[in-house]
Formats: sequence, structure tokens, C-alpha cells
Amino acid sequence: MADRVARCPKMAPLFLLLLGAGSLPAAGCTGAVSPERSLVWGPGLQAAVTLPVRYFYMQAVNEEGHNITSSPGAKSFKVMIKALSAKEYIRIHVPEPLDRNDGSFLMRYRMYGSAKEGLIIEVFHQDKHVAQSPYILKGPVYHEYCDCAEDDPEIWQQTNSCPTNEAQISKDFAPFPSIDLNRMLEEVPRRFAESRGAIVHYTVLDNQIYRRSLGKYTDFKMFSDEMLQSLARKVRLPDIEFYINVGDWPVEHRKANATPGPMPMISWCGSSDSRDIILPTYDITHSTLETLRGVTNDLLSIQGHTGPSWDNKTEQAFFRGRDSREERLQLVRMSKKNPELLDAGITGYFFFREMEKQLGKAPLIGFFDFFKYKYQVNVDGTVAAYRFPYLMLGDSLVLKQDSSYYEHFYSNLKPEKHYIPIKRNLGDLLDKIKWAKVRRTSLRFLTLF
Ligand SMILES: *[C@@H]1O[C@H](CO)[C@@H](O)[C@H](O)[C@H]1NC(C)=O
Ligand SMILES: *[C@@H]1O[C@H](CO)[C@@H](O)[C@H](O)[C@H]1NC(C)=O
Repeated sequence: MADRVARCPKMAPLFLLLLGAGSLPAAGCTGAVSPERSLVWGPGLQAAVTLPVRYFYMQAVNEEGHNITSSPGAKSFKVMIKALSAKEYIRIHVPEPLDRNDGSFLMRYRMYGSAKEGLIIEVFHQDKHVAQSPYILKGPVYHEYCDCAEDDPEIWQQTNSCPTNEAQISKDFAPFPSIDLNRMLEEVPRRFAESRGAIVHYTVLDNQIYRRSLGKYTDFKMFSDEMLQSLARKVRLPDIEFYINVGDWPVEHRKANATPGPMPMISWCGSSDSRDIILPTYDITHSTLETLRGVTNDLLSIQGHTGPSWDNKTEQAFFRGRDSREERLQLVRMSKKNPELLDAGITGYFFFREMEKQLGKAPLIGFFDFFKYKYQVNVDGTVAAYRFPYLMLGDSLVLKQDSSYYEHFYSNLKPEKHYIPIKRNLGDLLDKIKWAKVRRTSLRFLTLF
């Protein structure tokens, strides 16, 4: 019955769009879900990978063995998770799987206790076990607040599949073949703390974290604290001392070959003209720690809230945000002149209050609603716009302003492949939107993290 076999085009990558591959078939691969052939994988099936929220993926596959590429129905898979031993009772938050709208699902669960004996994870499609279900995770399976630090950092790195080489980290440390802590002790307060007041001095000793604030503007140390504490619970940290800059801007602008040379300051945002060593932003670490609890927008949840399917998204570029950079105001002006291409609005005035009368204030809108639009404009705020990773996980096409600022993962991205670059002065934005509009295809970039 050849005519019953659905057409199963491969996902349309951006390069097809760039080659001008016109309109690709929107209908993906469909058909009945095969429980045996469907796939289940991810770190949440491994006992030893302790995360605030454990997660794994499910891919619906049809009877012919083809991946299903559009949603087979939000309730296609049912997941049950409980302690392996009936004698152990552990509270586990197990929400419904997130439908990623492309035939795949993301399952998240948060444990509120550790399972000594282990966990059993069952995945069903209409009461039939899916793939290798039931999955047995042999204990101990720890929760986020465990006292379970692995003594050997290398084992911990292997367990968590940490890459042996991270280009950004190697590059960031290259100017610092050796570090003079005495010089830092003397110079950091004077050079970086007095003017900006946003430096925190950390010391880890016997896996205990100590710190002192250098300056008045160090409230954001709550984010570096919680991140370091989470790490220390899971892996025994070496005795170490360092300085984190919890302000917006990178601080060390001396060149690698300057005399005296630069110092290894740790920051959340890097720039091409500074030497700061970059951590994942507090936005990402906090939302990761609070997933399924205090936050709605995090790297996992976003994947199930990417709005209507591509064909049903509004054919406009979209922007909402504060007035933290001149180009954002310019976006609003462009939007007023070209409403068919761009819907941009400022939701709060602080830096350019005098412009509110002229440009107006747009009501706040939930982040998930951004994905009702096909194109997302990413423009810097005071530094890099920390929404960028979340925008990249939606299935809209991201148009990114050229910028000297970066977060820890940007060096893994390629302009034209992962996003469409636009000039810093936004001069080519409207042309790029027009260009994208004539090429109709959907894009997903879900493999960045
Ligand atoms: C099917 O989906 C899985 C999971 O997303 C992927 O690894 C695999 O490459 C896909 N197979 C094909 C033939 O596209
Ligand atoms: C678009 O929306 C309409 C109306 O809600 C719906 O019937 C249709 O299935 C949607 N199309 C796609 C491709 O999701």
C-alpha cells in the first residue's frame, strides 16, 4: 500500500533556506505511533546524572520506522516514575511530557528526595511499553539537595558527558598561564571593586564555599552562590580562590601582552575588547535550578511552548523589551513605518524616559507568546540580551544584531546557519525580513545545549 506511506522529508535545515529552497512540504511524516520502534533517550534515564530537574526525550516513530515529524497528539506518551522499592516513598514531581510539536516529546521530573534503591520509569503509548520501557535506574538516585558530592571531579565530568575541550573556556584562560593570587588580593579591590562595587571574592576550602563582597552592588551574588552550592553538592570542588564580577559589563580590558597584564576576572557576559572569563549567565543557571518550581521560562520548558506550527505563525518579526539600548528605540520607529514586517515595542522606560511620549509603551507579553511570530529580533540590552538562548530554543527564526558582547555558548554558533545576522545599526534588518518571508520553511535548532 505505497500510497499509505506518508512522505517523510528530513527536517528542513537553514542551509536549504539559504540556498533558496523555496517552499518545502509543510506536511511532515505521520502515521500511527509504534511503541516498539519509538525512541526514548537522555540523561534522565541515568541514575548517576544528578540534576535539579532530570529529563529525557521521546521520539514518536511510525510502523514503517520513520520518525514522525509533527505532533501525534499531546497525550501520545504517558510516563510513570516511582521508587523501585515499595518500601521507599519519595515525592517526585512528574508533569505531563512536553509536546515539542515535531514528533518528539520532552519529559521532565524533579525529585524531592533521594531513592536509595533506585527508580523505575515506565513509558507507555496506549498502555503498551515504549522502546525499552520499563527503565530501571539502580540506586542511589540523588535529588538536587542531596549530600552526594563525587570525590573525583574527573569521574563527575565523565558521568555528565562534559566535553573534554570547550573552545570558549580554553580561549578565556589562554592569557593566564599562571595566576598570582597575591597580586589579585592587592589589586582587585582597588582596580575593579572601588569604581564598580560589584565584585565578589570566593574561596572554596574543603568543599565549603566562603565569600566576601567587595562593594555595594553585589546583590546578584545570590545567583553565583546558588550555582556554586549546587555544584559543591554534586562534586567535591578543589580548594580554589577566584573573583566573580556580578555587574553587567565585563571589567578587564587590558590586553594579554600588556604590562602589567590582565587579571582573570569571571563574568557573565564577555566582549571582544575584554579578557573576562565567562560563565553561563545567572539567568540560565537560576532558571535551570528553579525549573518546575519558581520559574516558567527555562531551557527545558521553552521547548514545549514554541507557539503555533510554523505555517500558523504571524509573518512578522517581533520584539518586546526595555529601552536599554538606542537600537531598541530605532526598532520601534522602523516598526511604525513598516508594520507589515515588524512588530516592535518598548515595555519599560528607564534609560530614555523622554522617548516614551513619542514611541509609546507596549503592554508586557508572556515570553512564550513571542513564538506566535515567525521572526525574532535579538538586540543587545546593556550587554548581550540574555533572552537569546531561549529564543534559539523556540522554532522561530532569530535575527541577531551583530555585537561585541557574547555569552558562554555563542562561539559554538555560526551566523547564517543558526541565526540570521543583522548589522549593528540594523541597516539591513528590513531587507533580511523580506528575504526570509519569501522563503517559506520552518527551522528548529534544538541541539545547542
Ligand atoms: C529520528 O529521531 C532521532 C531522535 O530525534 C534522531 O536521532 C534520528 O536521527 C532520526 N532519524 C532519522 C532517520 O531522521
Ligand atoms: C493552523 O490553525 C488551524 C486553525 O486553528 C488548524 O486547523 C490547522 O491545523 C493549523 N495548521 C497547522 C499546520 O498546524
